[in-house]
Amino acid sequence: SKRRTVIAANWKMNMSLETAGSLITQLADTTYSNTVVVCPPYPYLYPVKLLLNQSTSNIQLGGQNVHEEDKGAHTGDISAEMLKDVGCEHVIIGHSERRMIGETDELVNNKVVKALEKKLTPIICIGETAEQYDQGLTKEVVSSQIQTALTGVTDLSDIVIAYEPVWAIGTGKSATAEQAQDIHEYIRSTIEKSHGVLADEVPILYGGSVKAKNAEEFSKMKDIDGVLVGGASLNAEEFKSIIQAFA
Ligand code: G3H
Repeated sequence: SKRRTVIAANWKMNMSLETAGSLITQLADTTYSNTVVVCPPYPYLYPVKLLLNQSTSNIQLGGQNVHEEDKGAHTGDISAEMLKDVGCEHVIIGHSERRMIGETDELVNNKVVKALEKKLTPIICIGETAEQYDQGLTKEVVSSQIQTALTGVTDLSDIVIAYEPVWAIGTGKSATAEQAQDIHEYIRSTIEKSHGVLADEVPILYGGSVKAKNAEEFSKMKDIDGVLVGGASLNAEEFKSIIQAFA
């Protein structure tokens, strides 16, 4: 089956209202053949949505995190319904930068279930740390992360997975395309064990120091269905050429 290709930008805690506006204006001057998702910080979601509405572009919007409950006394948190309300179709869940400050696999699972219930497509991040990589634990770690994240999830048609080795994030030292392909194939086979042929439909993105100059190598791999881009997504020309590599 032909999986959809997803190119996602994670702006993390960067940009201002002004630079967000100019970046979106530059990106939104065209329509894309693949799914392109931009994930700004919360305060810029709605201003970015308004700019996208004024354009003819098909760029989609995503949050960088979501709370696992519907609503209530959760100071500083954001619900899935709020993300939907301001125009998000996606949400990043379980990014390593959030796991590092205490997000467990179980919490990630609860967030995934909530996002799906509210019709948001979760972009579920998994990946081993440098230490786990050195100890040869990569496959063990990613398979346990993905199994827990998908507990109770039966329909995989609106799920995206991002494999991000933590040692490759923001370091300029990406995994090789072959290394990533090997792990992507393994992740797919893990999902197949619990969910059968549905595993074939799930886009698995690579993330970690993706740049314009290495994007094409990843695009050639059969189980790499797109990328989740941090630093290189903050520049319109660079991000566009990453999108182009997968077109
Ligand atoms: O979510 C994106 C990843 O953490 C990758 O970040 O492209 O800056 O290495 P990076």
